[in-house]
Amino acid sequence: MSNAPLIFEGVRKRFGQGPWVIDGLSAEIPLEGLTFVVGRSGEGKSVLCRLAVGLLKPDAGEVSLLGQPVHQMPEGALSLLRAQTPYLVQGPALLDWLTLEENVALGLPASEAKARAQEALRALSLEAWSERLPHHVSPALQKRVAIARALARQPKYLLMDEPTTGLDLEAAAQVHQAVLELKRQGLGALIVSHDWNAVRHLADRVLELKSGAVAFLGSARSFFAQREK
Ligand SMILES: Nc1ncnc2c1ncn2[C@@H]1O[C@H](COP(=O)(O)OP(=O)(O)OP(=O)(O)O)[C@@H](O)[C@H]1O
Ligand SMILES: [Mg+2]
Repeated sequence: MSNAPLIFEGVRKRFGQGPWVIDGLSAEIPLEGLTFVVGRSGEGKSVLCRLAVGLLKPDAGEVSLLGQPVHQMPEGALSLLRAQTPYLVQGPALLDWLTLEENVALGLPASEAKARAQEALRALSLEAWSERLPHHVSPALQKRVAIARALARQPKYLLMDEPTTGLDLEAAAQVHQAVLELKRQGLGALIVSHDWNAVRHLADRVLELKSGAVAFLGSARSFFAQREK
């Protein structure tokens, strides 16, 4: 079997009696670098992320994450796996009554939580804000803190659903810097994005979803070469 960190094999998913949202999805996504997931709104990008980390179960097919069969794992084993592959959900993700540092430290082993949180905040140049509450900093900064929180878990792989949606250009650029910093540290990530500027400048690889299946999976260079034909 391939050692790709994320593998979908013949995956189908629908909600109730609705149409198939994911319809025969097969893909092997390599660990290295940044893989951007693109596709129109409603094509199933967020559903793909939730299937990847076992928050949703497929109706058919198999999903493997870091070599583990996510589609059939019990919740306890899944939460351990999610600690190695944090998933940054679409929209805000911080607890508003905790400081930024406390948010990053949340769930880490108590004896090392503070040190690891501070280190992750420093890695993303956020240490000056560590004592602030989320609603006292900008949405971009909150997103960077969410990335720091993922980083503090010393993950093997990261999934991010639209990390820059709703941010202005400058704020998005700050989040992109944080993503590049992760890449510099050797961390691979799957990133859902509508931001073509980001896809163009940051993606190593593109996965295009269409009608619930893979319309393209390959290098960003070949993706854009094909579109521009
Ligand atoms: N929990 C759910 N119950 C019912 N339908 C759902 C559920 N989650 C997603 N869907 C449907 O599945 C389809 C795909 O949704 P999804 O959120 O994955 O799209 P998306 O590609 O992430 O869109 P966007 O770019 O707007 O975020 C949509 O038609 C959506 O309405
Ligand atoms: Mg979505």
